[in-house]
Amino acid sequence: MSKVDVVLGSFYGDEGKGKIIDYLGGRADVALRATGGNNAGHSIEVDGEKFVFHLIPSGILNKGTLAIIGNGVVIDPKVLIEEINTLKNKGKDVSNLRISTKAHLIFPYHIDMDKLLEENRGDGKIGTTARGIGPCYCDKYERCGIRVEDLYSDKFGDLVRRNVDDKNKIFALYNKPLYDADLIIKEYQEYANLLKEYVCDTVNLIHKLLQEDKKIICEGAQATLLDIDHGSYPYVTSSNPTIGGIISGSGLNTKDIGEVYGVMKAYSSRVGEGPYVTELTNQVGDKIRELGHEYGATTKRPRRCGYLDLVALRYAILVNGITALCLNHLDTIGKLDTIKLCIAYEYQGTKTEEFTTNEKILRESKPIYEEFKGNFGDLSQIRNRKDLPKNALKYIERIEEYVQIPIKFIGVGASREEMIIE
Ligand code: IMO
Ligand code: MG
Repeated sequence: MSKVDVVLGSFYGDEGKGKIIDYLGGRADVALRATGGNNAGHSIEVDGEKFVFHLIPSGILNKGTLAIIGNGVVIDPKVLIEEINTLKNKGKDVSNLRISTKAHLIFPYHIDMDKLLEENRGDGKIGTTARGIGPCYCDKYERCGIRVEDLYSDKFGDLVRRNVDDKNKIFALYNKPLYDADLIIKEYQEYANLLKEYVCDTVNLIHKLLQEDKKIICEGAQATLLDIDHGSYPYVTSSNPTIGGIISGSGLNTKDIGEVYGVMKAYSSRVGEGPYVTELTNQVGDKIRELGHEYGATTKRPRRCGYLDLVALRYAILVNGITALCLNHLDTIGKLDTIKLCIAYEYQGTKTEEFTTNEKILRESKPIYEEFKGNFGDLSQIRNRKDLPKNALKYIERIEEYVQIPIKFIGVGASREEMIIE
């Protein structure tokens, strides 16, 4: 392991980052989240027990691993406390959790604003997770946001009152219920007490740990094509789930970063609206959804499914400096008779291998496929790549040849153990 290794989503989220993070986290001293909020949903299966993480770095499951929620994360304290309690009730130790003083807080008015904005968008809706993520980041950049450290300052009441006054004006305009600042203050003061033991200056902590030669694994949330700058804007989330967000959202610097793992599935999926070149709106797409259990861990929505898109994958590699790939659900795609792999797009009669996030181009691009034989059979017991059936090897070798990056992890089943590691 390098000083700092990073795990990022290569596509539209839900690539199975949790599984890789869980494995790497077992070797790290520190697990770090730097971006997003409880719009993320990372499922991990340990000894037959399923854990779903939305905010806490899943590395916390490994005894002794320090779990840090960095400054770039937006925190809904109610959700965080629920997550802490769930872990405690399952007998897990959470005393190793650390929360950045600088992380911004999600308030109930952010959640209602998220819903109101979606209503107003009508057919142009984004399909957000309705967790208040966008409005909370808006306040951060507008510079009226309220941070974790404000919970412990005498200014807290004033900050909430000012925000509630402003937001109520908008809610009134739309005939929505108004907020009572005093109730929110009281509620958040209780959260402040419950979270106090975990709060610290995580930037200084991270650099102290690095000086002590501790190893850090950064747990990316969301994914490259959901990035506010590099994704399919406006159908994106409100943060930078790409490598830049890891740095700004944690206080790490570039020189400590070693491996950047790009996680993908052997097929693809997307939740929410927006263009998706390899989407299958037919029975094959339905079959992939059922075989891969592609229903949201956060919102339970059925995910849109399709074949793997190497044009988009190569873009993710470029934008993030991905050094190795993690391919999940090889077993799932191997249940189809025929598998397709998108190796180029056709746009207005011209073939291209260049990915662009322009909405019109993405919507009008048609995938150009190569075909592979499926029916891989049961892969769940395979732990060495060379033992994979010929058809499966052909498929993954073509991916590597196209993107010129090695696949180091291959998921062959849902559980922690069902993985080939190179
Ligand atoms: P993980 O970490 C998949 C999508 C939403 C919506 C858009 C904006 O599990 O991969 P937001 O609530 O963030 O404003 O919604 O982004 N989205 C995700 N899709 N996995 C996620 O996280 C996502 N987080 C946000 O569906 O289209
Ligand atoms: Mg998700």
